[in-house]
Amino acid sequence: MNILILGSGGREHALTWAVKQNPKCDRLIVAPGNAGIAQIAECADLDIENGGAVAAFAEENAIDFVIIGPEAPLAKGVSDRLREAGLLVFGPSEEAARLEASKFFTKEICAAANAPTAGYGHFKDAEAAKAYIRANGAPIVVKADGLAAGKGVIVAMEEQEALDAIDDMFGGAFGGAGAEVVIEEFMDGEEASLFVLVDGEEVLSIGTAQDHKRVGEGDTGPNTGGMGAYSPAPVLSAEIERKAMDEIVKPTMSEMAKRGTPFQGILYAGLMIKDGQPRLVEYNVRFGDPECQVLMLRLGAQAFDLIHAAAEGRLSDAQVNWADDHAVTVVMAANGYPGAYEKGSEIKGLEGLPNDSMNVVFHAGTKSADGKTLATGGRVLNVTARGETLQDARDRAYEMVEAIDWPGGFYRRDIGWRAL
Ligand code: AMP
Ligand code: GLY
Repeated sequence: MNILILGSGGREHALTWAVKQNPKCDRLIVAPGNAGIAQIAECADLDIENGGAVAAFAEENAIDFVIIGPEAPLAKGVSDRLREAGLLVFGPSEEAARLEASKFFTKEICAAANAPTAGYGHFKDAEAAKAYIRANGAPIVVKADGLAAGKGVIVAMEEQEALDAIDDMFGGAFGGAGAEVVIEEFMDGEEASLFVLVDGEEVLSIGTAQDHKRVGEGDTGPNTGGMGAYSPAPVLSAEIERKAMDEIVKPTMSEMAKRGTPFQGILYAGLMIKDGQPRLVEYNVRFGDPECQVLMLRLGAQAFDLIHAAAEGRLSDAQVNWADDHAVTVVMAANGYPGAYEKGSEIKGLEGLPNDSMNVVFHAGTKSADGKTLATGGRVLNVTARGETLQDARDRAYEMVEAIDWPGGFYRRDIGWRAL
């Protein structure tokens, strides 16, 4: 098959790495890709949020199957345009992508499906929102309804912080995303993520993971897109996973199908676990980044068969061949991230590193110029390893990190600490 993957991050490098190994893959193109992806696939310059442009490109290049990585093209209906053009696509419709693109939509689906989640209020008006905050008190969570690049959630420990967040959101700090807000009950517990393939009807869990959202060691400092991840997440025991599937994932997916907007793609369920009970924090309609990197290293080439089965509505026949293993990814980010960071610094030492089924350095924000690898993003490399134990995987990952010569970057030294 000729396959097109949309995206340019570490998540898409990991997807490319897994798909490439599958014997069903003939030509593999990634748009726009990055320097690491270019080492294993063709890269093409393409506006991936323009469904018409992607459909035309797919036709010119005899593409059989399109895999959509990030949320932005999904929220813009790129999968719908591609399906209208007769293409096989992995990724939800614009309607189903509202599970990530609107917090209120997800709360409302959970209510209809009776799925455990935080209590909430929904507001289009600052005064009513503030009255709700004053009535409920802190801690409380204020969320911009729409997509805000991971920045639209304020977990307020003090009431004033929540009130200020309302002023910011209705003041336009998050653009259109903050025109409506959801205010939620603060949930205490341990967070973990469950990744579930959905083909409209059937669901298939393909693994669990935990990431580290804060920039600093010991989970301190500002939030980031994720500084590292590991899979499996020990807190998500088989029993809790079963509850999350039966009480949250299956009922909400049935509700989507019942409304005539079935979900097809990967559902990323962010869960809060306390006293053996999972509750939904949020849904994303894409693989997590960097959680995808650890899932792909564990699944290998079978990841493609599973994704393909979801796209073709064949999940009832699919199964995952689990290895009893663990994977860890350590994110190396540019100095300054998640604030302003420098671009263009050179990364050395990548050539000598192992690159096999146990160890891979996925690129998240790099380009190559004059034979050099240069950093172009905030999160730049995802140094990923697999092992029989979490400790083993972590040791291998850090061994590679230490061999990378990049004074322009930094990393957390404690990825996986919670599980060790
Ligand atoms: P979200 O974008 O909805 O995942 O929110 C980002 C982060 O905020 C989550 O990963 C949680 O750590 C935290 N968070 C969101 N909602 C809640 C909640 N109701 N209670 C506690 N923490 C929350
Ligand atoms: N690592 C968090 C996310 O992908 O949303």
